[in-house]
Amino acid sequence: MTLAAGGMLLEATGIHKRFNALVVLDGVDFSVRANEAVGVVGPNGAGKTTLLSVLVGAHAPTAGTVRLRGQDVTALPTAERCRRGIVRTHQIPRPFSGMTVFENVYAAARHGGALGRDAAYARAAESIATTGMVGVANRRAETLGLIDRKRLELARALATGPTALLLDEIGGGLTDAEASELVDVILELKRRGLAIVWIEHIVHILLRVAERLVCMDAGRVIADGAPDKVMADPTVIEAYLGGGAG
Ligand SMILES: Nc1ncnc2c1ncn2[C@@H]1O[C@H](COP(=O)(O)OP(=O)(O)OP(=O)(O)O)[C@@H](O)[C@H]1O
Ligand SMILES: [Mg+2]
Repeated sequence: MTLAAGGMLLEATGIHKRFNALVVLDGVDFSVRANEAVGVVGPNGAGKTTLLSVLVGAHAPTAGTVRLRGQDVTALPTAERCRRGIVRTHQIPRPFSGMTVFENVYAAARHGGALGRDAAYARAAESIATTGMVGVANRRAETLGLIDRKRLELARALATGPTALLLDEIGGGLTDAEASELVDVILELKRRGLAIVWIEHIVHILLRVAERLVCMDAGRVIADGAPDKVMADPTVIEAYLGGGAG
């Protein structure tokens, strides 16, 4: 099914998540439209990664609903949501070690993207080119430096053929120049029509991509809107200064 640009793509409503007694998400509403780029900020422990995990189905919410193109996907496993076009990268890269970059990306295209051999090969080659990994395609994943491990996270996600790409601190630990290279790749993906949800602490790189910012604190969305308004919001400034775990 195609979706007009600007139509609602992914929508989470009333999301609660508890880990035993710990309330991590406390009534979160979050949405992203087709081809929209949304930045997610907030202090450490705010619940950002957990929200992403709920969106892709890695964690079941204690309460609330996740819809993809209007369809309730709350009960669907990650693999099925991935086939429907929603995929995430991890805060700590998770390549298959013992496999080359190409093999990693090919596996994502085969299994995450549910493609046959030839189509998966072509998709993997394309994803590797887009993310600037041609020069390291035959290296074993565990031998890569941080920037290439981040690129590999992106290439594997891309190889599944997403319509929504959810990025968890893909800029973390990189130099400004390296982060800037990744931003160029992410902007290219946005130009191709992907919706982007990007959790990032390095706000100035996030702002090159995000048209809208969502700020979370203590399991709640405390601001949602134009980036300059959100960054100037006293509640947001207080969340960072008051800085719980951060
Ligand atoms: N699987 C889990 N079991 C128990 N507690 C968890 C689990 N995952 C996360 N938490 C707790 O939930 C809270 C929110 O964690 P989360 O990783 O979502 O925050 P975050 O906003 O992504 O933080 P950071 O900016 O540090 O990545 C933290 O207190 C964390 O310890
Ligand atoms: Mg996190």
